Amino acid sequence: MTINESRFLSDLHKLREFGASGVGKGVVRPAYSEADIAARKWLAQKMADAGLAPHFDPVGNLFGLAPGRSLLLGSHSDSQPEGGWLDGALGVVAALEVARSVKQPISVVSFQDEEGRFGVTTGSAVWSGGLPLDKADSLTDASGITFAEARSSMSDLSDDFVDPARFEGFIELHIEQGPTLDAQGDQIGVVTDIVGIRDVVITFDGQQNHAGTTPMHLRRDAFQAVSQFNAMINNRFKNMVTPQTVWTIGRVDLHPNASSIVPGRARFSMQWRDGDANRLERMEEIIREAAKEVAESVGLGLSFGTMLGLEPVSMDIKLRSALQMGAETVAPERWQKIPSGALHDATNVARLMPVAMLFVPSIAGISHDFSEDTAESDLVAGLRVLEHAVLSLNA
Ligand code: GLV
Ligand code: MN
Ligand code: MN
Repeated sequence: MTINESRFLSDLHKLREFGASGVGKGVVRPAYSEADIAARKWLAQKMADAGLAPHFDPVGNLFGLAPGRSLLLGSHSDSQPEGGWLDGALGVVAALEVARSVKQPISVVSFQDEEGRFGVTTGSAVWSGGLPLDKADSLTDASGITFAEARSSMSDLSDDFVDPARFEGFIELHIEQGPTLDAQGDQIGVVTDIVGIRDVVITFDGQQNHAGTTPMHLRRDAFQAVSQFNAMINNRFKNMVTPQTVWTIGRVDLHPNASSIVPGRARFSMQWRDGDANRLERMEEIIREAAKEVAESVGLGLSFGTMLGLEPVSMDIKLRSALQMGAETVAPERWQKIPSGALHDATNVARLMPVAMLFVPSIAGISHDFSEDTAESDLVAGLRVLEHAVLSLNA
């Protein structure tokens, strides 16, 4: 049997129905939400139908296990709070299609909380031993719910983690989530490396006060501090970053968040990514120093939350060559080697076994947005490259 492209596309569209946002093809399926759990149950049934043994581990990572030793394929099926239909889902459904089509044993995985409701790629970080379970359990989401509470909302979790020794390697198909392939008219990207990341919550504590009566020079305004801090790091990073370095303040919680109150507290996420671990470290020094200077000059308290992070990783040469041969067969002269600026579960899995990844284009480079999309011919090309690689590894 060979892969069935229409069955693959139909399953991908079916998965989109879990948490469909009603805006374009977008989904709202954050880790452990009702939609996420329902999607995982549906996937578990699909795995069973494919002859795989479904296994929910203690954090809700879902494995479909082939007997004996096998290659592991997959990605994640949770989404960002406003997510696209393909981010993660593509890799899981493609894995399922390959597993039910080829003769060799293939296991499938959908990792939990890749999108970081609690941490950074939390489910695969715990499975790989990069994040101890007790530390993960104390992480909280934006509304204060702990990881321990969220995972206890899933029934049918096993007490056991899957033994990674049963897998020969891991391959993850994903959308690029950036502009390169689309802009250059290529159909496939074979990933060379995945960048590293640091992520921390910073809090400035000032004095909440009346917005009409408090003179400007007496204010200890937490928002003004965030604004100064942002300008300061942008300026200090100038001399030490590359065009690939990125940093983001993506969430700011102001307290009490009212027009007539000088904000007394600002809690915000600070995230930065780069392929060079030394640069990540130097950026951290700049961030800590700038926050301290601003806090002192405005007269604020300053605290840092748990520092989360992943190191940059390179893809395994043998698995990567198999993908390159597949790309050359399926999309001759329409593929390229490409680094990943997005994070992936593959980074964690690389602690345990050889890993590789391939990308298909994201239309206009948009992702983490309801409008994220990819041409169906490109989705199918990615599936076919994955199948070629898997078959050649067995030859
Ligand atoms: C994963 O979605 C990331 O933030 O790169
Ligand atoms: Mn993803
Ligand atoms: Mn994502």
